[in-house]
Amino acid sequence: MLHEHGFRVRPESRAGLLRQTPAILWLTGLSAAGKSAIANVVEARLHAAGQLTYILDGDSVRLGLCRDLGFAEADRHENVRRVAEVAKLMADAGLVVLVCLISPFRRDRELARLAAGSHNFAEIHVHASLAVAEARDPKGLYRLARCGAIQHFTGIDSPYEQPASPDVFIDTCLKSIDEGADMVMTWLRSR
Ligand code: ADX
Repeated sequence: MLHEHGFRVRPESRAGLLRQTPAILWLTGLSAAGKSAIANVVEARLHAAGQLTYILDGDSVRLGLCRDLGFAEADRHENVRRVAEVAKLMADAGLVVLVCLISPFRRDRELARLAAGSHNFAEIHVHASLAVAEARDPKGLYRLARCGAIQHFTGIDSPYEQPASPDVFIDTCLKSIDEGADMVMTWLRSR
């Protein structure tokens, strides 16, 4: 049996000390859609405004926390689950957390929102068509996936379930990274 200890310093107390409202900004979308680029700009703006932030980025967490995981479906569920739990802990610590994960499965993103509990949570769909993401191919991974050198690549031989009703929708084929960041900031201010 597990019992959570009723520690005296509550999440609200920490947020109060930091004078900020914690939030989880969950950016989902294809590889090369622009998730990390938008998170980078949003974080810089929040940081300049004196807000304590942290970015949980797929490529980074997969070097440590999730280094035992690959890209088969079960591993992606586990990757998203772990990051969702860490994001919740960081929000409990008072931070504005930006998550950049492909997080291709709708159910996993719903579970991430549930894991966030009472914290502000935004599902932000950073959209680029497969053709555009593939043409950008900054890491050369689409090319490798097309020639079969890597498997289970999202959009090629692994699915991406589009968010049905995201809190913010950013089409990076039409909007610049700065305009995308503006849309995220607008959502944050509305909270
Ligand atoms: S997720 O599906 O589990 O949410 P995550 O965002 O952590 O994925 O990792 C995606 C990153 O891993 C991509 O940006 C890309 O750099 C790299 N990557 C390597 N192999 C794959 C693959 N088969 N599918 C998708 N991304 C891959």
